[in-house]
Amino acid sequence: MKNFSSERALKFTESVIREMTRICLKHQGVNLAQGFPDFPAPIEIKESAIQAIRADLNQYAITWGTPNLRQAIAEKFAWYNGVTMDPEKEITVCCGSTEAMVSSLMAIVNSGQEVIVFEPFYENYGPDTILCDATSRFIPLREPEWHFDERELTKAFTNKTKAIIINTPNNPTGKVFSYEELNFIADLCLKWGVVAVTDEIYEHILFDGAKHISIASLPGMREQTITINSISKTYSLTGWRVGWAIASAQLTASIRKVHDFLTVGAPHPLQEAAANALRMDRSYYQILAKEYEARRDFLARVLDEAGFHVYRPQGAYYIMTDVGHFGFLDDVTFAFDLVEKFGIATVPGSSFYSRSSFGSTKVRFCFPKKMETLEQAAEKLRHFKNETEKLN
Ligand SMILES: Cc1ncc(COP(=O)(O)O)c(C=O)c1O
Repeated sequence: MKNFSSERALKFTESVIREMTRICLKHQGVNLAQGFPDFPAPIEIKESAIQAIRADLNQYAITWGTPNLRQAIAEKFAWYNGVTMDPEKEITVCCGSTEAMVSSLMAIVNSGQEVIVFEPFYENYGPDTILCDATSRFIPLREPEWHFDERELTKAFTNKTKAIIINTPNNPTGKVFSYEELNFIADLCLKWGVVAVTDEIYEHILFDGAKHISIASLPGMREQTITINSISKTYSLTGWRVGWAIASAQLTASIRKVHDFLTVGAPHPLQEAAANALRMDRSYYQILAKEYEARRDFLARVLDEAGFHVYRPQGAYYIMTDVGHFGFLDDVTFAFDLVEKFGIATVPGSSFYSRSSFGSTKVRFCFPKKMETLEQAAEKLRHFKNETEKLN
């Protein structure tokens, strides 16, 4: 039969993360694969969405976002990230950071240009660059600290480079990029005229005193950075699909055009509620981080006791592990075995690498879950440990 798919669509596969969620449902397992909370979102935010619907904010909003939400984004970016932006000209509200990322890349990258991506990487960045007809240049982050090699990064910047994607705090490694690392990247961006596209959706989920730094706040980078964020992770609202891109007026003008024709706009009543979320008392963020730290500590201990090699995250809500010593063929075989026999869904490490072999001994767990869900996972992991010991 004739294949009607575009060459572009044939270049990438279905999301492994979302596929694991479906398999998990089939086996009625505990889903530690896809990163979304199983606990409720803040009640006051839900109430404000209901009120917005009742107030009939049910038609298209301004394509680049309601003035109220853009104002709230600008206020929060100023106090938390230390950068002042004009909500009229420098902020675009999108359908989640997923759309903000793809609209931004499409707005700036030409066919054949290169985009530098640190690997392991959040799996969307691969298809994102393919959709722009760009070529990804992968720079390894090496465990256990997930540092990049400065010489390797320096060599990756050329006349063909248009953008570098940064994700801090990082999915899947939990790395929080340091000031020195960001400064090094910023110097290269300024030297080569490269745009830093930085996904900061885990900016409030930080452990052990780690500090989040936005590369847009470094000297010279305000005009050369697109900062991507959303309400998904910070306010536990992954299904609302409200995110944004913050960038200079010149970059924003391009992003807004792509965004307009891709999606027209994010859900109007949810934008109003999102504005209230961004204005919540600042203590909310401290509590959020503390609660996630307790979950991280719990799951890291359980995984360690079950025999996994744990890379302790400094931020975000994932734990990358090494499972090579369990003797499975590869990460995919291991992940399927774990969900089918023991009822725990994870993500095979290879889905975060450009070549499967790079992630073939790794598996990622996520922990945005109620403690009782994590306790169920712990029980299943103890079962896994007992069965593994019997075999050896
Ligand atoms: C690094 C990263 N960026 C973006 C997203 C998607 O965010 P959104 O729900 O805002 O589209 C995720 C979701 O897991 C993520 O981990």
